[in-house]
Amino acid sequence: MIKICMAAAGLIGLLALSWAADKPPASDPKIERGKYLIDKVALCGDCHTPHDEQGEPITGKKLQGAALAFEPTVPVPIWAALAPGIAGLPRWSDADAVALLSTGESTKGIRVRPPMPAYRLTRQDAEAVVSYLRSLPAGADSKKASH
Ligand code: HEC
Repeated sequence: MIKICMAAAGLIGLLALSWAADKPPASDPKIERGKYLIDKVALCGDCHTPHDEQGEPITGKKLQGAALAFEPTVPVPIWAALAPGIAGLPRWSDADAVALLSTGESTKGIRVRPPMPAYRLTRQDAEAVVSYLRSLPAGADSKKASH
């Protein structure tokens, strides 16, 4: 009887172990907040994700950079026609990206050209956005300089 109980306990232990291994890693609330802000509020992917002919974002290329599908109706001399890859944030330090998204310019005073909006996120939200960008794989072409 004792043996059977021990075997049963061992089996339950094994089941518990394999269940724990199958569980996805607990999601980081900061990264989840950043994903929400990017996907549902600021819609960064409208410019930074390439779209197919039907206007659907291309799977696997999220925020990996895109040529803009629209132009200004009046001449804008400093218009940037390319939204560079921001997945993984390969060219920006956390401090510069947080400053850009919360003040409109990096710590070195760099401003990005229109139509990139000069966001004024709270510092906390800017940090969440940066955490989510860092969690994404950088695209193959996102190492190229944007300007
Ligand atoms: C309306 C289009 C548009 C939207 C929406 C947009 N961007 Fe941009 N973004 C651009 C363009 C265009 C550039 C390039 C500007 C330049 O070359 O000066 C850019 C540049 C950047 C850069 C600098 C990248 C680099 O490597 O130089 C970062 C970082 C960035 N955007 C982050 C974001 C984030 C985060 C969001 C959402 C919170 C966002 N952008 C939303 C158009 C957009």
